Amino acid sequence: MAVPLPSLISPGPRAGGGLPAQMRGGLLRAARAATTPLLPSDYLGMIAPLTFGADLQGRIVARHPETPDATTLVIRVGRKWRGHVPGQYVRVGVDVDGVRYWRAYSLTHGPDARRGTISITVKRLPGGRVSEHLVDRAGPGDLLVLDQATGDFTLPTVPPGRILFLTAGSGITPVIAMLRHHVWHIQDVVVVHSAPRPEDVVFGPDLRALAAENGIHLIERHTDTDGMLDVAELDDLVPDWRFRETWACGPTALLDAAAAHWEGAGLADRFHVERFRPAVVVVDDAGGEVTFTRAGTTVEAPGDVPILDSGEEAGVLLPSGCRMGICFGCALPLREGTVRDLRTGELTEGGDGVRIQTCISAAAGPCEIDG
Ligand SMILES: Cc1cc2nc3c(=O)[nH]c(=O)nc-3n(C[C@H](O)[C@H](O)[C@H](O)COP(=O)(O)OP(=O)(O)OC[C@H]3O[C@@H](n4cnc5c(N)ncnc54)[C@H](O)[C@@H]3O)c2cc1C
Ligand code: FES
Repeated sequence: MAVPLPSLISPGPRAGGGLPAQMRGGLLRAARAATTPLLPSDYLGMIAPLTFGADLQGRIVARHPETPDATTLVIRVGRKWRGHVPGQYVRVGVDVDGVRYWRAYSLTHGPDARRGTISITVKRLPGGRVSEHLVDRAGPGDLLVLDQATGDFTLPTVPPGRILFLTAGSGITPVIAMLRHHVWHIQDVVVVHSAPRPEDVVFGPDLRALAAENGIHLIERHTDTDGMLDVAELDDLVPDWRFRETWACGPTALLDAAAAHWEGAGLADRFHVERFRPAVVVVDDAGGEVTFTRAGTTVEAPGDVPILDSGEEAGVLLPSGCRMGICFGCALPLREGTVRDLRTGELTEGGDGVRIQTCISAAAGPCEIDG
């Protein structure tokens, strides 16, 4: 019988260093009056950036290389951190050459993490602004800006009896958190993971230890020698895949193929997916000229590239978050023109009160954006 999972949304240490909420509020109000135009939180942030009152921040305290191109960063979080459910991600603000970029990273630490620390595991993408910085240059002492954990790529409170995790590359990150926290509560779990070579398997030693000691059935696919996984092979690799609730995370091609496979089998409701990139279904490369009115910059934006990328390419600093259409951190007013939703092909016309997500919208003709 499945055992209900314990709640893992553990609050961090008590906010406010133990001061009663009323007293804390009074002190902050008095401080606010005395410190205008800067807010007290600004001073608190300067003195002790991880304390209550400061923005939610974390300080890198350790880095552990996992593979030649992936590194785990252990981050000490401030008192406002509200915990997470394994499988969730955190939006991270990272300053690279004086510019703050936001990216999403799955939380990878297990229940044995030191109190007050979390971890993320970043895989370097060639030319990736943030991943290259985090993997190659970020280190102990560096501050990161954080949001609270979010996301619904998580196990239900009562886990299903049979589970399949289908992952590739850095797609193992949300799954390792689930395994680390729940391996005792899951009865029957198969992990099918793809990476080019054995040494490229992120968390390879941990996964192999979980297989040896905790009975997970690990199927490693080394694509340099075995070729890419064709989801039709699951019939041989995991003959009962149809009876397993499945969680999948990895590159777009694998996820698209798997989603179609499950849908074709009439099992779409048993398939859960976490995408690191939006699924682009429509490509129209006509594009158009995009004017960012506040920056005073006009760029020639292709019709198959998110406006966010086209703007950043031209040096326009735009707000962003997950970069795949889920957090709305990139929404900006579209004053004029038409954009295309890269996931659906839907067109949106600009006008009063119209806001678009620049990370999944491409220009469909000339546009004017308030950014
Ligand atoms: C919910 C969520 C969880 C995530 N968890 C993790 C995680 O645990 N570990 C991790 O390493 N990454 C994770 N990511 C991806 C991460 O947020 C960044 O997209 C990634 O680090 C690349 O950022 P960058 O600034 O280095 O690349 P950019 O400078 O933004 O892009 C560089 C080039 O790579 C392409 N690109 C961008 N992202 C990807 C991608 N994911 N796959 C392939 N090509 C890409 C771009 O189109 C561009 O050509 C997650 C994303 C989401 C939405
Ligand atoms: S950055 Fe998250 S929706 Fe666009």
